[in-house]
Amino acid sequence: MIEFRCFRNEDPPRLADVWRSADLGPAAMQPMTSALLESTVFSKPYFDRQGLIVAIDGARAVGFAHAAFGPAADNCGIDPSVGTTLLVAVVPHADYQAIGQGLLERCEAYLRGRGATTLLGGGSPAMRSFYLGLYGGSDLPGILDSSSVMQGIFQRAGYEEGERIAVLRRRLAGYRPPINRLQVAIRRNTVLRVIDEPTRRTWWEAATTTGIALRRYELRNHSEEVLGSASLWDMQPLASAWGVLAAGVLHVGIEGPRRRQGLARYLLSEAMHDLAEEGVSLMETHVALSNSAAFALFESLGFETAEWGTVFRRPPKH
Ligand SMILES: CC(C)(COP(=O)(O)OP(=O)(O)OC[C@H]1O[C@@H](n2cnc3c(N)ncnc32)[C@H](O)[C@@H]1OP(=O)(O)O)[C@@H](O)C(=O)NCCC(=O)NCCS
Repeated sequence: MIEFRCFRNEDPPRLADVWRSADLGPAAMQPMTSALLESTVFSKPYFDRQGLIVAIDGARAVGFAHAAFGPAADNCGIDPSVGTTLLVAVVPHADYQAIGQGLLERCEAYLRGRGATTLLGGGSPAMRSFYLGLYGGSDLPGILDSSSVMQGIFQRAGYEEGERIAVLRRRLAGYRPPINRLQVAIRRNTVLRVIDEPTRRTWWEAATTTGIALRRYELRNHSEEVLGSASLWDMQPLASAWGVLAAGVLHVGIEGPRRRQGLARYLLSEAMHDLAEEGVSLMETHVALSNSAAFALFESLGFETAEWGTVFRRPPKH
């Protein structure tokens, strides 16, 4: 008989056990430990034990699922109207499907009970509340195609495919930025600042990136106006598990009126050169399929799609 209950303080070692045994795919940090879960999950200021559901068979944890929310529009708090089940992990078990379904249903009940009217499956750049660096790579890419077992849980429950997110990668060894008239003109008219551990701009940014090695490349003109910036991090602990020095792009943005002038390509190529000089060999970013500008930008910089993830969506009840 499977029992479902919410998280208790003595659970971390059992949840690490579940993570290690469940088939989460190659983009899940392994081997998982309770210390790693502590640093990216339980220690978050908005962690709510009611949203982390554990499945127990006798004395053994056989699965867990975690439901959470994203930021409010002002990034100063949580928006309970949109909730997501970030992941569902189930160990190999005769009742595998029933356990997955039971966990997901309880996550949905939790989200609805807190006021959610939109229910998603998987994390994303907009919903990176937990598991950054433990699943997915440079960001949360929904549920990756390589996590087919987990995708199956959402599909069997009737979730539809929402946004598709591409995992784009590029090797950096020996990278040299292009030299052309446009790049030379931008270099002359701008200043590039490299800021390690920048002050987090919002509560949400602080909550989701505290504890990770964040670096911001900021492009300014000579009047000190910020034209755009790129935020990167070292993708730990996943990058160590992969055995590479890596840089993950969390965000790149150019101020509206300054777009289409080559600034993002310049900013990123300078960052790539800087990182390559420091010995970083792999750069990764996640781009939603609908963001054609970002897609074209990263492809023009030599990034290639390594795999795809899906943010699932529970169709509204009629
Ligand atoms: C994506 C973004 C950073 C691009 O910045 P940008 O400074 O305008 O980009 P660049 O001028 O350097 O363009 C470089 C290449 O990207 C592609 N590109 C950029 N904007 C594009 C657009 N709107 N449509 C199609 N291609 C585009 C082109 O291939 C372009 O090369 P080209 O001008 O020689 O054709 C900018 O549109 C932005 O800030 N968007 C909002 C934030 C965002 O979506 N960030 C990405 C996800 S984190």
